[in-house]
Amino acid sequence: MKILFKNIKSLVQVRKTGVKFLSGAEMSVLPVVEGAYLLVEEGRISAFGKMDDCPEDYEGIFVDATDKMILPAWCDSHTHLVYAGHREEEFIDRINGLTYEQIAERGGGIVNSAALLAKTSEEELYQQSVVRLKQVVALGTGAIEIKSGYGLSLEGELKMLRVVQRLKEESSVAIKATFLGAHALPIDYKNNKTGFVKMLIEEMIPVVAEEGLAEYIDVFCEKGYFDVDDTAQILEAGQRYGLIPKIHVNQFNAIGGVQVGVDYKARSVDHLEVMKPEDIDALKGTRTMPVALPGCSHFLSIPYTPARKMIDEGLPLALASDYNPGSSPSGNMNFVVSTACIKMNMTPEEAINAATVNAAYAMGLEEEVGSITIGKRANLILTNKIPSYGFLPYSFGENHIDKVFINGIEQ
Ligand code: NIG
Ligand code: FE
Repeated sequence: MKILFKNIKSLVQVRKTGVKFLSGAEMSVLPVVEGAYLLVEEGRISAFGKMDDCPEDYEGIFVDATDKMILPAWCDSHTHLVYAGHREEEFIDRINGLTYEQIAERGGGIVNSAALLAKTSEEELYQQSVVRLKQVVALGTGAIEIKSGYGLSLEGELKMLRVVQRLKEESSVAIKATFLGAHALPIDYKNNKTGFVKMLIEEMIPVVAEEGLAEYIDVFCEKGYFDVDDTAQILEAGQRYGLIPKIHVNQFNAIGGVQVGVDYKARSVDHLEVMKPEDIDALKGTRTMPVALPGCSHFLSIPYTPARKMIDEGLPLALASDYNPGSSPSGNMNFVVSTACIKMNMTPEEAINAATVNAAYAMGLEEEVGSITIGKRANLILTNKIPSYGFLPYSFGENHIDKVFINGIEQ
């Protein structure tokens, strides 16, 4: 099937093949073709350029994009989109003064979602999750990473990962799966972290890997959860089974998780709300992508990742939603991009690069999505009539998406 977009006001994020990720000052450049056409064949981008060079003998579907822009669909490299129920009672507890950590200490938080998940059938979990997936696609997300982590048992984790697997099979969106067995201690291991880590390494990782249910392995490396030694052991075990690290670090405390991530060649280290100078230094010159989650900072009223400092020191940065029921119950990447500009002093160019090219790299999809590049999947956002791409983050909370295309098909 073919589709030709004509008269595009701005075709945003056009890149040659082979751009893996953008660092430092490179992030301030967002290449655009003004007055453009874009040709899609068999679900992939096959040609683009100035309208003057638009194919004249074309026969097929046309989309007129006069006064509209086309961008690559957002890449959301960190989500927990598969979960059961919701936790708005904890949201109210926080409004009334409790912190996220205090709620967790009294048995709420992740453990609360785990209890809900245990009571939910796999079919019901799929039904809840597919609704969320469709909602984020309508908001422009065309590639997404989804973690387990609310099982806290082999059975529960497999249930979650099988739901991710089914989403992969039944949705045309590009999806990557991450095994986050080390998300919190289940109640029956409350005083036996060593036993839980042993069980995770000896029983859970082998089954997850043998069943081919995940590409990545994640750990919540944080005070009160898993320390750097636990993290190192779990990542090492994961790597033995071919799982690539991609970890939660420095959300509330800087305890050396970034360094562990770099040592184990993590694809990404995510959260980074609290960064010491040595954490920034550890990332320099590596292939580990730092990922900021401004939706989580916004929702929990915790610090934002020091994006300006990190980019000014030459680091790359990706943005993701962290869509989950406890710390970021929204998967809206438009909000994420806007908040990165408003609260993290990222320019629109930097934020769009962070949510496309760099986010694609953060989940190993840089060959497939994240830019307007010949051969990549035609996962596209067609905007409404807008004056500039900077208008997208500027007019926060508004929806400027006319249509979303996944593999060239209108959603
Ligand atoms: O990325 N911080 C750890 N995990 C999630 C939150 C999980 C939850 O509260 O349900 C996060 O913020
Ligand atoms: Fe997360």
